[in-house]
Amino acid sequence: MRVLLLGGTSEARELAVLLVEAGVDVVSSLAGRVERPRLPAGPVRIGGFGGVSGLSDWLVSHRMDAVVDATHPFAEGMSANALAACSSLGLPLLRLARPGWSDAPGADGWTWVDDHAAAAATAASSGQRPFLTVGRQPLEHFVSPLAAVRAVVRVVDPPEIEVPSPWEVYLDRGPYDLAGELSMMAEHGIDVLVTKDSGGRYTWPKMAAADQLGVPIVVVRRSGATDGVETVPDAAAAAAWVRRQG
Ligand SMILES: NC(=O)c1ccc[n+]([C@@H]2O[C@H](COP(=O)([O-])OP(=O)(O)OC[C@H]3O[C@@H](n4cnc5c(N)ncnc54)[C@H](OP(=O)(O)O)[C@@H]3O)[C@@H](O)[C@H]2O)c1
Repeated sequence: MRVLLLGGTSEARELAVLLVEAGVDVVSSLAGRVERPRLPAGPVRIGGFGGVSGLSDWLVSHRMDAVVDATHPFAEGMSANALAACSSLGLPLLRLARPGWSDAPGADGWTWVDDHAAAAATAASSGQRPFLTVGRQPLEHFVSPLAAVRAVVRVVDPPEIEVPSPWEVYLDRGPYDLAGELSMMAEHGIDVLVTKDSGGRYTWPKMAAADQLGVPIVVVRRSGATDGVETVPDAAAAAAWVRRQG
């Protein structure tokens, strides 16, 4: 059984371990976005495929039998390409995506918005000390709405754009814990937290800290781009799906 595992998440790394242990011929794929990526078990390819046609060619030339899309919930471009390529080739496709936080404690008290532009506008009208934890790619949406605000930004790698001079940028990739997030927010006097609906345990401590400190939370909803694709919430269920394909 030859499987392409589109990764870049902790779930994808967990699944790679299970598939390698099960003797599945898995190739994990990373975008090459992060300077020092956490490498999954087994063979890894790094870099884009060149759109839907590039991905289709790669799947055919490497004689893949199935694809598991375990990319981040906000990696919508890759997920859309995987769906298009697998549909045209008639290849089985599974989505491995951690559940979002819409049912999490306190979620109905947060401000849910449809995109990063709306999040920027909401943050601009909510506080003077926003904490941006949306990753570096969407930062461009926050530049002009928060140009004069002393925003605190946390990213894995340095932003690719020039950020406003009042902003403070911290490079960090976690894992995070509640105590650390509480002191981070208290020390900087954070008065609004901005995040994506990433879901999962890995980045949850910031949500718990904000709730504990009474800091308002602005959450960018998932787009639902992969609705309709068979989806499982964890690596064990994804490994079972791969076994069933064999
Ligand atoms: N977006 C986030 O918040 C976030 C957070 C943590 C980790 N990640 C991980 O970072 C990677 C990039 O995310 P993104 O949001 O920039 O993706 P994206 O916008 O969905 O993808 C843009 C392009 O990057 C390439 N790409 C993305 N994921 C890839 C993969 N796993 N293997 C090979 N090429 C890939 C593809 O290029 P081609 O069209 O040339 O094939 C894709 O069309 C993903 O693997 C994702 O799991 C993203």
